[in-house]
Amino acid sequence: MFKDFALAPADPILGLTAAYRADPRAEKVNLGVGVFMDETGTTPVLRAVKDAESALLAAETSKSYLPIAGTDGFRAAVARLLFAGALPAERTAVLQAPGGTGALAAAAHLVVRARPGGRVWIPDPTWGNHKAIFPAAGLSTAAYPYFSRTTRGVDFDACAATLSTLGPDAVVLLHACCHNPTGADFTLPQWEEVARIAAERGWLPVVDFAYQGFGEGLAEDRAGLLALLTRVPEAIVCSSFSKNMGLYAERTGAITLVGEDAGATARAESQAKQVARTLWSNPPKHGAAVAEAILSDDARRTAWEGEVAAMCGRIRGMRAALVEGLRTRRGDVDFAALAAQKGMFSYLALPDGAVARLREEKAIYMVAGGRINVAGLLPRQLDYVCDSLAEVL
Ligand SMILES: Cc1ncc(COP(=O)(O)O)c(C=O)c1O
Repeated sequence: MFKDFALAPADPILGLTAAYRADPRAEKVNLGVGVFMDETGTTPVLRAVKDAESALLAAETSKSYLPIAGTDGFRAAVARLLFAGALPAERTAVLQAPGGTGALAAAAHLVVRARPGGRVWIPDPTWGNHKAIFPAAGLSTAAYPYFSRTTRGVDFDACAATLSTLGPDAVVLLHACCHNPTGADFTLPQWEEVARIAAERGWLPVVDFAYQGFGEGLAEDRAGLLALLTRVPEAIVCSSFSKNMGLYAERTGAITLVGEDAGATARAESQAKQVARTLWSNPPKHGAAVAEAILSDDARRTAWEGEVAAMCGRIRGMRAALVEGLRTRRGDVDFAALAAQKGMFSYLALPDGAVARLREEKAIYMVAGGRINVAGLLPRQLDYVCDSLAEVL
């Protein structure tokens, strides 16, 4: 069997990091990575995480399996963080999942039970893995218009027009905040309009919430999600602690089902537990225990909120410095849309030739289309990157 396999291509983003590492040039800059970095270029373990880990290490007495859906404490803490009490508890069911990716895979396998061969609508552009996760579960994907390369912002009219043509069989993937790769998010009135369309047309929203706290703040970043969830009968939320707790390698996330009433929610939850049982049987313990220990302890939670605000501040400060640097070099280009983008990523909407040129001539690495991680940009690299971008823009 194996010798007949075609050679699958390497992951484009992870492959970029490998090429960056192999580059001998001293001035090289890696703006392709998808992790937060501090001013020194490291992806730190948060102090709240270290503190929780010390307490857990001392108190742990067993490594027996967790329940299929995770512990009750973790599930309740996730519901509080996502919804802040805005939805009745009996309408929501949280299941722990291995990262946001695991949550999306579980969502795909849950959807396929109700809609075999169904179609998931994903934004154009979107995180590359969306295009792979849903088909891997037997669903097809189609793209809805989302981003305008001319304005470098959301093309809401085109987006709403397509979403208005979809019916109850459709599933629509939405990014809750910090859209990857563009950083262009819906405004609150636009979320309200999306909610109205979803309620009227009956399609199922699946919301990918991987960056809570990286846009404007933990509470601000869930405002659009809540505007949607308080207006639609059903939805699925796929959330992750990879970024906002820096628990990348611990694979800590959740799939949360929002049902019309207690009965529908319980039925969907029972199906999702079967899905989890077949995919990973029961979830990994450590990251979820850390998240629970942070979210359910007032002092640790306050410390963590401060660390999230600091990460968000570094991202916003770096984006502002980048925009300022580009404005002084290229007074003829309008950078308002770039300044308004949210989260780790900025999308420069560069032609492929420019991305390749920056890599070959300047040793600056970025994802196709010109997605850069502003948290990957270090203050000492700012002038060099602005000079180089000003040349190709
Ligand atoms: C939009 C989006 N969704 C989901 C994920 C998955 O994150 P995790 O590492 O928790 O699986 C990412 C990670 O980069 C992402 O950018």
